[in-house]
Amino acid sequence: MTTVTKKVIPLRWISNIKLLQHRSFHVDAIAYKTANITSKQFESIYNSDAKDLSRELDGFLKRHIGPSPKDVNKMLKTLNYDDLSNFISSVIPEKILEKRSLNLKAPDQGYTEQEMLKELKNLANLNNFEVKNFIGKGYYGTILPPVIQRNLLENPQWYTSYTPYQPEISQGRLESLLNFQTIITELTGLPIANASLLDEGTAASEAMLLSFNLSKGKKKTYLIDSNIHKQTKAVLRTRSIPTNIEIKEIDPYNLDSIKEELSTNNVSGILIQYPATDGSIASMENLQNLSKLIHEKKGIVSVASDLMALTLLKPPSEFNADVVLGSSQRFGVPMGFGGPHAAFFSVTNKLSRKIPGRIVGVSKDRLGNQAFRLALQTREQHIKRDKATSNICTAQALLANIAAMYVVYHGPEGLKNISQRIFAITSILAKFINSDGSSFKTLNENWFDTLTIKLPDGITSDNLLQNALKKYNINLYKVNDNAVSVAIDETTTQKDLENLIKLFSNDSQINVTQLVAESKFEEFPVDLRRSDNFLAQPVFNTYHNETAMLRYMTRLQMRDLSLANSMIPLGSCTMKLNATTEMIPITWPQFANIHPFQPKSQVQGYYELTKSLEHDLCEITGFDAISLQPNSGAQGEFSGLRVITTYLKDQGQTHRNICLIPISAHGTNPASAAMCGLKVVPIACLKNGSLDLVDLKAKAEQYKDNLAAIMITYPSTYGLYEPGVTDAINIVHENGGQVYLDGANMNAQLGLTSPAFLGADVCHLNLHKTFAIPHGGGGPGVGAIGVKSHLQPYLPGHDITKIEGAGEKSIDAVCSSAFGNSLVLPISFAFIKMLGNQGVPFVSSMAILNANYLVERLKEHYKILFISEEDRVSKHCAHEFIIDLREFKDKHVEAIDIAKRLQDYGFHAPTLAFPVPGTLMVEPTESEDLNELNRFVDAMISIRGEIDDFVNGQPKGMVLKNAPHSLEDLLISKDWDTRGYTREQAAYPLPFLKQNKFWPVVARVDDMYGDMNLMCTCPSVEDVASSQK
Ligand SMILES: Cc1ncc(COP(=O)(O)O)c(C=O)c1O
Repeated sequence: MTTVTKKVIPLRWISNIKLLQHRSFHVDAIAYKTANITSKQFESIYNSDAKDLSRELDGFLKRHIGPSPKDVNKMLKTLNYDDLSNFISSVIPEKILEKRSLNLKAPDQGYTEQEMLKELKNLANLNNFEVKNFIGKGYYGTILPPVIQRNLLENPQWYTSYTPYQPEISQGRLESLLNFQTIITELTGLPIANASLLDEGTAASEAMLLSFNLSKGKKKTYLIDSNIHKQTKAVLRTRSIPTNIEIKEIDPYNLDSIKEELSTNNVSGILIQYPATDGSIASMENLQNLSKLIHEKKGIVSVASDLMALTLLKPPSEFNADVVLGSSQRFGVPMGFGGPHAAFFSVTNKLSRKIPGRIVGVSKDRLGNQAFRLALQTREQHIKRDKATSNICTAQALLANIAAMYVVYHGPEGLKNISQRIFAITSILAKFINSDGSSFKTLNENWFDTLTIKLPDGITSDNLLQNALKKYNINLYKVNDNAVSVAIDETTTQKDLENLIKLFSNDSQINVTQLVAESKFEEFPVDLRRSDNFLAQPVFNTYHNETAMLRYMTRLQMRDLSLANSMIPLGSCTMKLNATTEMIPITWPQFANIHPFQPKSQVQGYYELTKSLEHDLCEITGFDAISLQPNSGAQGEFSGLRVITTYLKDQGQTHRNICLIPISAHGTNPASAAMCGLKVVPIACLKNGSLDLVDLKAKAEQYKDNLAAIMITYPSTYGLYEPGVTDAINIVHENGGQVYLDGANMNAQLGLTSPAFLGADVCHLNLHKTFAIPHGGGGPGVGAIGVKSHLQPYLPGHDITKIEGAGEKSIDAVCSSAFGNSLVLPISFAFIKMLGNQGVPFVSSMAILNANYLVERLKEHYKILFISEEDRVSKHCAHEFIIDLREFKDKHVEAIDIAKRLQDYGFHAPTLAFPVPGTLMVEPTESEDLNELNRFVDAMISIRGEIDDFVNGQPKGMVLKNAPHSLEDLLISKDWDTRGYTREQAAYPLPFLKQNKFWPVVARVDDMYGDMNLMCTCPSVEDVASSQK
């Protein structure tokens, strides 16, 4: 069905000066009640006309889309088409092509970049960022050192790189992530840490599931400290439901009641908060006893902690914790209304193979040099699918890198100075509050940075909060009607302390300045204080001035290939332009310095932004409602499936527990289904790549009484617009199931078709793919979900922040903050609004054109899976395609050889071995221009010659096996006389490389060695010294 909406042509397009020229456009627009994707329309939006005063000259479409109208014509000609619209009609099956005209909250042709920045500034100014937040509860004011802000967070070389799957061209961020892991292991005292998780709440649930899985799913009770953050409890509840884990809140001081719980032999572990959410710190003796009790019953002790506190506080290893987790936000990462921030997770050696998420490990390259890489990947969902222990694909790499650099910059002494000051300020305030004349009293007896304060009779929390805001522009946290809490952080000044004292003195006329000046600078108590010498590694003790720091970051950035170097044609990853204008607002304090629990009246900018973005995403997907909460694609899958299972429960259909998943699905699909308690039933695919509808029908009917859902990706993970998708959806609906669409390939749908039009009930959108949020070297992501109206009541709610539309049927929060990774939402907001109704469909049209152009140029040289003459399911691919290299396998050339050789040509490899082993999946996106596409084609053709050399036994074919070639290899290796190819052939196989060469800093990395000799922290001082001998 095509929705026909009458288009109103904005007056600004019908200027008198250009009336004649505009007439044809005008007529076209009226004739096209559906989206107009003709070549002429593209040209008319692309080309600005100096005489047309009604239109700003520099439109965004022209900057975002790579090919110019001229290029488009050339490419169409190569493909034998005369018009873009005809081409698209022949690519997308008729019943799939919707071309519904959009009604975005934006000008038809989009905002220009300057207009967008003004609009965003207006929104930003609706957020109160000048208020001083003492809210705490997992989110704290912090100072992002400007050198890190500009040279890392605002630097495309850091934020546009992908997850470091190709280690030879990712050594910079791998080193930084190794620094992050080292910081975590040093501060928590546990030997193994991962390279970040999504947030504290989800990290806590990973700890719960790890404990449960270790008990082989037998011990169904999980104990949690009643004194953990409220938002963490909510996320734990969400994750406990599918596995029927019973969460019991306990008082960690009450060892008798814990003994009683343990006597059931049904407890898999415990999670405590240290320091607790009320600010208190349990005694070491108590914690050791507690730990002993849990361990005696083979349970796992997990600790949610705070890195800043741990720079003073004894590490959890001293009371034998098995897992330590938390957020690294306060190490320089802006609060951003709740995210993105990197959670951390460390474990004991015995849990090293159970740890969730990505781990960076140390290995060696072909020349024996130290090299970093992602370790132990066989634990992950890519391999283990529904048996995976966790489901982390996109994590929070960029934020982990910021936190790591913050520590590199401050060093252990700098950190201790910051934390000691935080403690001292807290102590001065506590002393005042507990002084004889005060009518207030702290409820916690000890603290690091947080005081929970009981109010005197006659003062309610609401009164006090109002007073604090009105008189001192201060936000506190309301614990209950009679208690508030105050959290001190790195940004707290003497003036702030004075204001707090005035507030808690009932505004009496005391001389606070004098009082503060005379206060003792309290040292952290000896019985709680750690005594070890942490972070002694050279990297944390070298770069403390800005010049050194700048050079360290620059050195690392130069080791990484990012979109700033060349195209990253990773299939299923949509590495498109992340425009500077989209990125600029995220470091504005109006968006960055906002606490997620600030009252709604103070964050109207964020509310308006999210509402407008939700509207636009509904418009694009055809859905009735959107939740922006899930903070990765995999998290979106979990949320969408939770919404489905909760809906089914409400319908009295709890028994429906089967999830059909095609064998071509991404590993996160089966892993998410399993996390939701669903049983995965695989659906076959035909030889030609399409879904086997016969198998699907048979399975849907076989399981019709218990069918919960199907998860499908559209266009399929094979890069095909399967015409049978609507039949597949109907089959599932007819058999009582719901349809979950994995939106990873949404970049082939924008304005052309939509998940709701296809018939899906729910779909996640990777805003970090389709909607221009940069991949950050492995995160952040936003896995927003869209749903049809029957599922809307079940979208995630939040215990602290009000989400419009959330109600009693809402599932509990899936992550810690209400709007997930809110700080990066302005990026997608700007992307959509700068393209406008007319520009959006060209995103997908050009992505499809670019992919098909590559197919056309490469098909003589390589087999293209599913699109070859004899095997074709479709004449064309969608926005990505698969190069089949399996024919070379028995000649001993592997897909990985081509992937590595591409590095010598300055390209990141396409997606390797997914969805078909032995292949490369290429996705150029709409942002690459014809020159870059041709460069890639030239490189691939040249490599084809090298494959032939190898297959024909020519010595120069060895260039493939030795790839990539580092500079060191070229300069120092002694075997060049026997290689069979020259240095020049190794490094400059095509002329353009002499002008534009990216050097891999290491040679091919040995994967096996790294896994067998797991090392995932920085070398110690001793190691460095001995390696220099
Ligand atoms: C088809 C598909 N589904 C799901 C995901 C998971 O998304 P995320 O990495 O954001 O968790 C990916 C990631 O690449 C994907 O390609």
